[in-house]
Amino acid sequence: MLPAGENHGGTVTEPALPGTLALTALLALAGATGCRSAESSPRPTTTESIDPIEGEELASQAIAPAVPAPLLRNHATKVILEVEVREERGTLADGVEYPFWTYGGTAPGKMYRVRQGDLVEVHLHNHPDNALAHDIDFDAAIGPGGGGDASFVAPGYSTTFSWRAMRPGLFLYECSAAPAGVHVASGLFGLILVEPRGGLPRADREYQIVQSEFYTEGRFGERGPQRFSAEKALKEQPEYVVFNGRVDSLAGSNALKARAGERVRFYFGNAGPNLTSSFHVGGVIFDTLSGEGSLIPGQPDGPVKSVAAGGAAILEFMPRVGGDYPIVDHALFRSQNKGTTGTLRVEGADDRMIFSGTTSQAVYSPGTTLPKLPELGKVGSGTGAGIFATVCATCHQASGQGIPRVFPPLRASEFLVADRARAIRIVMSGLKGPIVVGGQTYSSTMPNPGLSDEQIAEVLTFEMTNLDNHGKPVLVDEVARVRKTWDGTSPLALGAGAGKPRR
Ligand code: HEC
Repeated sequence: MLPAGENHGGTVTEPALPGTLALTALLALAGATGCRSAESSPRPTTTESIDPIEGEELASQAIAPAVPAPLLRNHATKVILEVEVREERGTLADGVEYPFWTYGGTAPGKMYRVRQGDLVEVHLHNHPDNALAHDIDFDAAIGPGGGGDASFVAPGYSTTFSWRAMRPGLFLYECSAAPAGVHVASGLFGLILVEPRGGLPRADREYQIVQSEFYTEGRFGERGPQRFSAEKALKEQPEYVVFNGRVDSLAGSNALKARAGERVRFYFGNAGPNLTSSFHVGGVIFDTLSGEGSLIPGQPDGPVKSVAAGGAAILEFMPRVGGDYPIVDHALFRSQNKGTTGTLRVEGADDRMIFSGTTSQAVYSPGTTLPKLPELGKVGSGTGAGIFATVCATCHQASGQGIPRVFPPLRASEFLVADRARAIRIVMSGLKGPIVVGGQTYSSTMPNPGLSDEQIAEVLTFEMTNLDNHGKPVLVDEVARVRKTWDGTSPLALGAGAGKPRR
C-alpha cells in the first residue's frame, strides 16, 4: 500500500468498499477503547482500482527461465489464461523420474505478464487422464482463497473464473486443492507479474527462477522412478530443493547468460512448500526492486534475499566483471547437496578496478607443529598415508569411509579403482560432480588439493593398495604422463588424460 497522497502514474483511488468500511468501524471502536492514533489517522488510500476494459487478448506467457515480454499497451484489457493440469512423469535429475503434476507440462507452469487493472479470465482444464481434482489459486487475486474454490475442478472438466489484477507486483499462483502441500510439492505452481500502469523500467535481461522442494522416497540422486514421501514432507526434510523444477535447470549448458554492464532482473519465486529461501548470486549485490513481490520502492539492497515459502521478489543487479556467478540458496547444504545451484555466465572483460582475481600465491609458513606437505614429499613408505591423513581425511574421513551424499568414500571404492587416469586427474585438479560412487550420487565440489606429481602418486598408491581397495600402485611416470597429455577439460571427460582417446 502506498502512503496516503502518493500517486503512481494516474492512479485512481477507488471508492470505499464494504470491507474497508468495516475496517473503519473497527478502527473507530479501537479508538473508543483508548487507541487514539487509530482514531486520528486517515483511512489509508490504495492504488487499487477498477479500470475500464478495452478488448481482450491471450496472456503474454513464457516457460522458465524465459520471461514474457513487457506489455506495450497503456490500457486495461481482458486477459485470457488457458491452463491445463497434467499429471505425468518427468525428470527431476539425470536418471531420476518423478510423478509431476503440472500446469501445462512444466514445473513451474508458464509465467504470465498482465497489467494492473486487467481482468484476468482463467480457463482451467483438468485432463481426463488425471486422477485428482485440482485448482489454481492466484496470490495476486483479491477474493476468497485467490480463486482456489472458484476454479476447483474434477478430472475431465474445465472451469472458468476471473479476477482483477488490482495490485502491481510479482506473485505466485499454485494449486490449493487439499492437501495443498502435496500439490505444490508435485509441481503445481508458477509466477504471474502484474505490471504497474506505465510498466517497469527497462532491463537488459530478464529471467524467472522458481525454487521448490521435492520429497522423494529415495535419497537424493537415487536413480529410477521415485514416489512422494509424505513422511519427509511432514518433517520438512526434502531430498531435493531445486530451481525451475529439476536439478541443473540453470547449470552447465543451461546457465543463464548476461554481459558485464547489463542490467539483469530476476523474477524469483519460492513455491516451497516448506522452506524459506536465502536466495543469493555470488558476486553481485541486489538492488531489490521489490521486497516481498510488491513494487513499492525504497527496499534495502543486499547480496542475499530471504523469500518466504509462497513469496516472490524482483531482484536487479548489474554484473561488472566477466565470469561465472553461482546462483544458490545460501542455505548451503541445500545448494551443495540438494540441488539449488545454477550459474549466471557473464560475458565481459576483467575490471581490475573492481575485482582483481588472484594476484599472487605464496607459501604461508607462520610455524606449525603439524607435518608440512613439502616435507612429506620425500618418497618412501608411509608418505601416502601421511598425505591421506593430513589432506584427504578432512573430507573423505579418517578411514576413507566418506559421508553419504556429501563426501564419497575412498574405501572399497570401485569408482576409484575402475579408472586410474581419471583418479589421477581428480587428485590433480579437483572435481565438480555429479558422479555416482557406490550407487550414490555426489553432486559437490572437491577443491584442487595442490599436490606435486610425486605426492599424487604416493597418496593414490596408498589409496589403491589400502582402504579395502585392490588396485595397483600408481607410479610418478603415470601421473606425469597424464599431466602432459591432459587438455584440462573435466577430469570425468571420456578419454581425457590420454590426449587422444585411449585404445
Ligand atoms: C575439501 C574436501 C575434500 C578434500 C580435502 C579431498 N576431497 Fe576428494 N572429493 C571431495 C568431494 C566433495 C568429492 C566428490 C566431488 C563430486 O561430487 O563430484 C571428491 C571426490 C574424490 C574422488 C572421486 C570419487 C571416489 O570415491 O573415488 C577421488 C578419487 C578423490 N576425491 C580423492 C581425493 C584425494 C586423494 C584427496 C587428498 C589428496 C582428496 N580427495 C581430498 C572432497 C574432498
